[in-house]
Parts: sequence; C-alpha cells; structure tokens
Amino acid sequence: MSIRTNYENRYADEAYYWGTEPGAFLDELIRLCPPAPGKTVLDIGCGEGKDAVYMAEQGYAVTAFDLAENGIRKTLRLAREKNVTVHAYTDDINTFAVSGQFDIVYSTGTVQYLFEENKKAFFEKLSRMTKTDGIVYLNVFVEKPFLGLPPDWDMEEKMWRTGELFTYFADWKIERMDEVIFEDTSGGRPHFHCMDTVICRKVDIPAQT
Ligand SMILES: C[S@@+](CC[C@H](N)C(=O)[O-])C[C@H]1O[C@@H](n2cnc3c(N)ncnc32)[C@H](O)[C@@H]1O
Repeated sequence: MSIRTNYENRYADEAYYWGTEPGAFLDELIRLCPPAPGKTVLDIGCGEGKDAVYMAEQGYAVTAFDLAENGIRKTLRLAREKNVTVHAYTDDINTFAVSGQFDIVYSTGTVQYLFEENKKAFFEKLSRMTKTDGIVYLNVFVEKPFLGLPPDWDMEEKMWRTGELFTYFADWKIERMDEVIFEDTSGGRPHFHCMDTVICRKVDIPAQT
C-alpha cells in the first residue's frame, strides 16, 4: 500500500476517526431528492463511509471513493455491519472517472484536495455526471486572515477564496449557498474553520429558438 494521504494512518485504527454518525447535511439532500428505486448517489472522498452507508440505508444505490485504502476498507466493513451495499473503491478527486450519471453528487471535507489545474475539468465532469434535476452538495474550506491553519491540515490541502466555489454554479438553480465559521476538535486541539457550502440543482437550459 502506498501512503498518499495522511488519512491512511488516521484510518488505520479499528475505531472510526470520524465516528459513524452521518452528516446532518444529508437530510437536506434527501428532502431535495428523495430516495426511490434506481436513484443513485456519488460520495466523493467518502472517508470511512459514515455518509455513504447512511445513504445506502435510505435506499439509494451508492457509489463512493476515497484516496485512503483504509477508509475504503472501513466503508465496506460498515456497510457489511449495516447490511447494505456500497460500491466503494480508492480513487483520486483529481483524476477519477465514473460511468453513468447520479441523482445526488456530494463531497464534504475533500474538495480542498483538488489541485488548481484540475478545477475546471472537475466542475465540467460534475455537470456531466449529474442527472437533470439532480442535486450537487459541495463544501470547501476558505482562507481567512484572522484564522490560523487547523492543526491537522495536510500539505496537499489548499484553502479556497471566499465565494470561489459559488462561481462554478452560475447556470444551476441554487438551493442554498452560505459561509460559516465553526469550531472543530479533530486532530485533538480545538480550532476554527471557515467553510463555503453550495447545494444546487441541475436544470436543463431550454434551446433558443
Ligand atoms: C476531512 S476528511 C472527510 C471524509 C468524509 N467525507 C467524512 O465527512 O467523513 C477528507 C477525506 O479526503 C480524502 N482525500 C484526501 N485526498 C484525496 C484525494 N486526492 N482524492 C480523494 N480523496 C482524498 C481523505 O482520505 C479523507 O478521507
């Protein structure tokens, strides 16, 4: 196994680094795009699988990937324990390829691993892989001169600028976009993050006559 993310070590323990409680944002996504037979979800940077497994429990067909092999191992373990199926594998947000389209595409805590030179291609891919009427949820850490770097910040992570995330969704129907500052204790020391979040719906643009 080649170590390509510090999360490989953080996820090596049998205990779940992020716990197994799903993210609160998922209920908003479920309300905007309720589960039904054939509804599909993509989790980009699924970590140890708490969100992917929860979405599978709700009845979606879930695909999930993460760079950390230990994260995928634990995602598959959690899915087995909850008696659901998640199609989970290792891949890189910078270069991944998936076939088909999804009703919900989300990524939490991972978009900052996207290299500058891959941003344009990523958002084009995101648009192609989202079904019409489908929902995208993304969040990203943004730089604030009055907040220091978090203690568990990786070399590969890059802070975004306030509002930058929103510029990629000008043609989408915005369901919610906001910026919040919140306290976090991951890495063992309390610290603050500033995060931009967008939830948007892909709407077909009528052909001009
Ligand atoms: C803050 S954690 C979030 C994990 C998960 N989404 C959650 O909420 O529990 C960031 C995740 O990004 C993953 N990651 C780091 N670099 C990545 C890359 N280049 N491609 C895909 N995932 C990556 C890490 O392994 C880690 O699981």
